[in-house]
Amino acid sequence: MRIAVLGTGMVGSAISGKLAELGHDVRVGSRTASGGTVEFADAAAHGEIVFNCTNGAASLDALAAAGANNLAGKTLIDVANPLDFSGGGPALFTDTTDSLGERIQAAFPDARVVKSLNTINCNLMVDAASVPGDHVVFVCGNDDAAKAQTRGLLGEFGWPAERVLDLGDITAARGTEHYLMLWLRLMGATGGPNFNISVSTMPR
Ligand SMILES: NC(=O)c1ccc[n+]([C@@H]2O[C@H](COP(=O)([O-])OP(=O)(O)OC[C@H]3O[C@@H](n4cnc5c(N)ncnc54)[C@H](OP(=O)(O)O)[C@@H]3O)[C@@H](O)[C@H]2O)c1
Repeated sequence: MRIAVLGTGMVGSAISGKLAELGHDVRVGSRTASGGTVEFADAAAHGEIVFNCTNGAASLDALAAAGANNLAGKTLIDVANPLDFSGGGPALFTDTTDSLGERIQAAFPDARVVKSLNTINCNLMVDAASVPGDHVVFVCGNDDAAKAQTRGLLGEFGWPAERVLDLGDITAARGTEHYLMLWLRLMGATGGPNFNISVSTMPR
């Protein structure tokens, strides 16, 4: 499958590397083409599916550079978080009535935005079995077909279907993004980023 990965940081590298290893035809987008990367718009034009792995504060600009026409009708998997370290400690630049995922969906109404993988360190995103246990990954978005397509790729990354929790429409991104406030503390408490959470329910 032709896939665009917008972003050249740790996340873009982990996801694009894994997708290429799996045999997908990947183009990595950046502000400027260099080495193995092309400009955001060229990557997005190439992809049947687009991953947003850009800095959260810059995601709307990066996606604008990618071009609304190159995102229209496509599944746009949004991995970014609205982190804001400008005040010293970690915070979000969104509040509890808003999320980056929703802002992206509102700005690009013809894209089919699915928020996923943003609650997990990038190495674990693409290798679910690297952490033992029944830990989970979330998906949310307004388009069921886009979520199904995302689930397919998550399966290729090693996430069993029963550990992919669908939280509903894109407003659920408020919760998964705000979880970052806890995630950062869990990283301190567990001594590193290679952890994840599981969800247990009372037997019925
Ligand atoms: N690190 C993790 O394990 C992890 C886990 C979950 C979610 N996330 C989220 O995933 C996203 C990517 O994280 P990361 O650590 O890989 O990289 P990052 O440093 O947060 O972002 C790097 C990307 O953002 C682009 N960018 C930065 N400023 C820009 C601007 N002004 N305009 C347009 N594009 C701009 C860069 O473009 P250039 O290529 O041109 O430099 C680069 O491709 C973030 O939103 C982060 O919160 C990270």
